[in-house]
Amino acid sequence: METILITGGTGYIGSHAAVCFLEAGYQIVLLDNLSNSHAAVLQRIATLTGQSPPFYRGNIADAPLLDEIFNHHKITGIAHFAGLKAVAESVQQPLRYYQNNVAGSATLCAAMQKHGCKKLIFSSSATVYGAPGAVAYTEDMPLAPVNPYGRTKRMVEDILRDLCAADSDWRVALLRYFNPVGAHPSGLIGEAPQAVPNNLMPYIAAVAVGTLPVLHIFGNDYPTADGTGVRDYIHVQDLVAGHLAAYAALDKHPGCTAYNLGTGKGASVLEVVAAFVKAAHREIPYQFQPRRPGDLAEYYAAVDFTREKLGWQAQFDLQKMVEDHWNWQKNNPKGYL
Ligand code: NAD
Ligand code: UFG
Repeated sequence: METILITGGTGYIGSHAAVCFLEAGYQIVLLDNLSNSHAAVLQRIATLTGQSPPFYRGNIADAPLLDEIFNHHKITGIAHFAGLKAVAESVQQPLRYYQNNVAGSATLCAAMQKHGCKKLIFSSSATVYGAPGAVAYTEDMPLAPVNPYGRTKRMVEDILRDLCAADSDWRVALLRYFNPVGAHPSGLIGEAPQAVPNNLMPYIAAVAVGTLPVLHIFGNDYPTADGTGVRDYIHVQDLVAGHLAAYAALDKHPGCTAYNLGTGKGASVLEVVAAFVKAAHREIPYQFQPRRPGDLAEYYAAVDFTREKLGWQAQFDLQKMVEDHWNWQKNNPKGYL
């Protein structure tokens, strides 16, 4: 029986992964410092799965705590979600990001090495590609992130590549997410931003539920079909199913492998808004604003490599993503509060 330590396990994606791994028959242990999540999610995980996995409130950079976890549980692998993720904040507070995301991950890897656990799947991001000049990103493109957050992801990828190069026992999957959205279809767990959302889908959801007055659409003069930015939105349930496939494949694939997790299809901001209006049966007022610095016009995932190597591909379309996101938001207008 495998036991997976899920870092960031009470966060948006980590909580969905917790449910997914429990349903697949894995034992799990959760570690999170609750810097961007709520302990209330633990009860929701229990309601959904009938199980209450052990939870440690603490930091991935706390080596004695990691020792305690490895000593108490026979951890066979790690799903590493813990990290800070706000791009603009990373520009203002770079050291906090490097310390939390990079130094924290290095401490986690050192604990793994010490306790002989060398299997890990890592939450990377499409942001590691920077602006490669193509719209369909393939895993072999050069990495050139353009902000501190993206650089923390590339640095952790570098650490993991170097570990695998130095010791052939390590098995690592670098999972480069495109734009995760949606929620568990039960509406019991979902994304619960603690401040004004930075990202499109939670912002639209907040406007739909009435906690924010109007959506600001950043740019309507991009060289895209309707002038607004195009991204590859992926249902969080598909995303975590990709983690399950990636974790299972570690036994077949030694070394370090990067996989895109996206649908391979782009949707514009206006298409997302239209899908949300249809799902929620209410208007989403919006205003066009200047482009957001650092944003690209259009990109999406090339998904052939992931499909071939992991036998996984996304199942859910944009309408299902917004329906599930809205179902969560309308049932939990204040998140977990
Ligand atoms: P989230 O903020 O909801 O979850 C991250 C969790 O990690 C939070 O619960 C937070 O409390 C915890 N955490 C942060 N630093 C920690 C530390 N030092 N020790 C212990 N716990 C810590 O974010 P999410 O959307 O679930 O993202 C999960 C991972 O996926 C992150 O690494 C993020 O960078 C990455 N990612 C997210 C997106 C996205 O759009 N959501 C896209 C690409 C990559
Ligand atoms: N957008 C708006 N209004 C908003 C928020 C976003 O118009 O209030 C637009 C953006 O300009 C962009 C699109 O909606 O065209 C998507 O923006 P998000 O902020 O939702 O997502 P990004 O693609 O900018 O960034 C996301 C994650 C990053 C990650 C990146 C990887 O937030 O952490 O994907 O590709 F690095």
